Amino acid sequence: MLEKINNICCIGAGYVGGPTMAVIADKCPEIQVNVVDINQARINNWNDSDFSNLPIYEPGLAEIVKNCRGRNLHFSTVIEENIALADMIFISVNTPVKKKGIGAGQASDLKWIEASARQISKYAVGKTIVVEKSTLPVKTAQTIKNILEAHVLNTSNDKKFSILSNPEFLAEGTAINDLENPDRVLIGGEDQDAINLLIDVYLNWVDKEKILTTDLWSSELSKLTANAFLAQRISSINSISALCESTGADVNDVALAIGMDKRIGLEFLRPGPGFGGSCFKKDILNLVYICNHYGLYQAAKYWQTVINLNDWQQKRISKIIVEKLFGTISGKKIAVLGFAFKANTNDTRESPAINICRDLLEEGSNLHIYDPRVSQDQIKMDLGHSQIIDSQNLLFEGKWEFSKSVELAANGADAILVLTDWEEFKTLDWEKLSKIMRSPSWLFDTRSISNAIEAKSFGINIWRLGDGA
Ligand code: NAD
Ligand code: UGA
Repeated sequence: MLEKINNICCIGAGYVGGPTMAVIADKCPEIQVNVVDINQARINNWNDSDFSNLPIYEPGLAEIVKNCRGRNLHFSTVIEENIALADMIFISVNTPVKKKGIGAGQASDLKWIEASARQISKYAVGKTIVVEKSTLPVKTAQTIKNILEAHVLNTSNDKKFSILSNPEFLAEGTAINDLENPDRVLIGGEDQDAINLLIDVYLNWVDKEKILTTDLWSSELSKLTANAFLAQRISSINSISALCESTGADVNDVALAIGMDKRIGLEFLRPGPGFGGSCFKKDILNLVYICNHYGLYQAAKYWQTVINLNDWQQKRISKIIVEKLFGTISGKKIAVLGFAFKANTNDTRESPAINICRDLLEEGSNLHIYDPRVSQDQIKMDLGHSQIIDSQNLLFEGKWEFSKSVELAANGADAILVLTDWEEFKTLDWEKLSKIMRSPSWLFDTRSISNAIEAKSFGINIWRLGDGA
């Protein structure tokens, strides 16, 4: 029996694998942590001598990597050897929505999970604890177990596996703080010895009371449920934002008034252009798929509406912008402030900015996009080239350009559109901006973060999401 964990391998060096393993290495200097990935470019970036080139931007991450890399934190593409060395292997690979085949558009694509399980079954040595870190459909542990055990049966060697579910609840932009001070750590499993070994890893920095253990299925399902509940709050408040605009109420006041009720709480009630990020949509779609699979059609329908509302919110914003700018934005310059799906990350996956910018391009607008962390190449991947072809193969007039500052984006613009809640957008110099924009100028603030009163005092027309005044 294993007495303690000396060597951890993490398969997948992405937004979860990278930061999570960096924090484990930082908090557990006696454990060697090897993070492996098939993506050589990503691993090169993790090993870059210039820490500003790490593949992921997260406040506090570079400092931890600086501290641990080469000591007990290693990034490589050497998968087989590191699997063989490990007592505990975290699977932290991507689980996106299936693009084709059965369940396309809803079910999770588990091909990277399966590939990881096959590699583990082939190269692991002795007793190995396999930990699901990726977000997975409930019952996936059974699939992983089947793959692992099939190999043991075929080779009848000394391999032994225990499988645990340990979903990750970090949010991007606050990942390091979330990992260092988690609300809870959830561990699901059947093998108490394996559970205890994982608990011991976390006890290096997490209070015992915060470590919750359950069976495998409850743990897997809790992760999907947590994301569905969080997203549902955003769709709920966004639905009210539209009603506020129609009735003269202010959604931020409503959010405060309801959130001060302890039973509702203030967190996750910020209205906005809809939730983005790689997980909320895919995890709810997965929940919808699973409910349908078990014949729970009403439950499936309920969760689907959370996504429908989110899509509607994005479309609604694009429509309002066109209407306010005299019904046409063809050839008009719009400064888009923010492209990441939220502040403090360079991640644009499912960012509401993508759909809203596409809508505005379709209307012929000339977008100048500024984001403090998102690169021009990333925007190119998300939007396509500056002239995009629509589904009927017609060339839009709309085009976009990358701007290196707010001022460059706003120069000569008819409107400023705030899409991401970056700190720097809270303190824009409205006197200066009002002078360089074209009149009549507009501010469309989908995050309610800018100083609208000041902007108004310099003659800028204001539209703030959820503000019916
Ligand atoms: P990601 O795409 O950033 O990273 C996944 C990495 O796994 C990629 O670098 C990919 O190359 C690598 N990979 C895939 N197959 C591999 C294989 N067979 N061998 C080695 N490497 C392989 O994804 P992510 O955002 O880190 O998410 C990973 C999982 O964690 C997903 O299930 C996601 O739902 C979940 N999750 C994500 C977040 C988040 O904030 N991004 C938070 C909690 C949970
Ligand atoms: C979310 C969850 O918060 C994490 O707990 C979870 O681990 C993670 O998904 C995951 O499984 O991937 P993340 O997507 O990184 O984290 O970031 P959030 O802070 O949840 O924001 C998601 C989206 O909702 C962003 O577009 C954000 O702007 C939006 N949002 C968030 C709002 O519009 N209003 C809010 O009040 C909060």
